Amino acid sequence: MTSPRSLAGPRSAPALTAPSGGLPEPVLAAEHLTKCFGDRTAVDDLNLEVARGEVFGFLGPNGAGKSTTVRMFGTLIAPTSGSALVAGVPLGPGNGVEIRRRISVMPESPGLYLRLSVTENLELFAGLYGLRHSSQRIGRALEAVNMSGRASDTCGSLSKGLRQRVALARALLNDPQVVFLDEPTAGLDPVATREVHELVDSLRQHAVTVFLTTHRLEEAERLCDRVAIFNTTLRLTGTPDELRRRLFTRALEVRTLAALPDPGKVFDGLPAVEAWSSDQPGSYILRVSEPSAAAPAVARSLVAAGADVLAIGERQHSLEDVYLRLIDDDVEVERR
Ligand SMILES: Nc1ncnc2c1ncn2[C@@H]1O[C@H](COP(=O)(O)OP(=O)(O)OP(=O)(O)O)[C@@H](O)[C@H]1O
Ligand SMILES: [Mg+2]
Repeated sequence: MTSPRSLAGPRSAPALTAPSGGLPEPVLAAEHLTKCFGDRTAVDDLNLEVARGEVFGFLGPNGAGKSTTVRMFGTLIAPTSGSALVAGVPLGPGNGVEIRRRISVMPESPGLYLRLSVTENLELFAGLYGLRHSSQRIGRALEAVNMSGRASDTCGSLSKGLRQRVALARALLNDPQVVFLDEPTAGLDPVATREVHELVDSLRQHAVTVFLTTHRLEEAERLCDRVAIFNTTLRLTGTPDELRRRLFTRALEVRTLAALPDPGKVFDGLPAVEAWSSDQPGSYILRVSEPSAAAPAVARSLVAAGADVLAIGERQHSLEDVYLRLIDDDVEVERR
């Protein structure tokens, strides 16, 4: 895919700081944002801030309220209570047009007119946006999603993944400051998925803010500066590393060729090791506060004990481990 530079035009790169220190220039924010459908609360008291140029992942199980949140930010439905700032504009009945000018939403289902061609669909939406130079914009948007060769095909004749790409092209047409992508890679093959990832990367380089919902945790890990784990209420927000550290104690994994005859003698005297356990012969988990500081001392102690060391490394937790720990807790609570 080509860079969307020509679509978005270069903006200065964002200076992101640690979220705990307060984000610079929040371009997207929610304060006590709540949406109820009758008796059902889909989004409950959501508070979050997203900085300009951030790629922000919004993760949660089916029915968590992710699309409802996107639809509120996208001015498609009104919140029941609370407030929000979208592309720097307060969400409210009088500001819908101004917000929609500055953002774009790629919804879960592409919502294309199936009897119209790809170009006709994009012309229709460019017209609704009142965009000038629409044919150049359409050409560049199709190029950005590798669909130039299918421009005159009817959307009804396209596969699910190709329709998804047309929807993505539509989301690029208006040079948005904030792009909401609701599961943009659902149903895409690995090559098309990688192309979407590259597109998100280049949006980030041009300081476009991306609010991304996905069920693909490796995608969130790869693309997002920060993620929120959400299930009707916000469970946790941070960089994937911060979430790992908050939920899991840090540990070293040690493997030796043969079981240590007296592991206590090797590990107990080391100040850096808080506790240890062994799940199988020759395999040890050492709880430590700083793995890189503890590893050399552990290595020395193992060698002094005559052990044949196969590996010493920090225990790795994926974003999936973080997600499952939080969401499994929710399932447990629901079962009780
Ligand atoms: N228009 C509506 N009327 C009534 N209930 C709704 C409406 N839209 C959403 N809901 C309900 O709100 C809850 C959240 O739905 P939402 O579509 O936001 O979830 P989601 O996190 O996007 O899920 P998924 O991962 O399956 O896309 C669900 O229980 C859903 O049934
Ligand atoms: Mg959804």
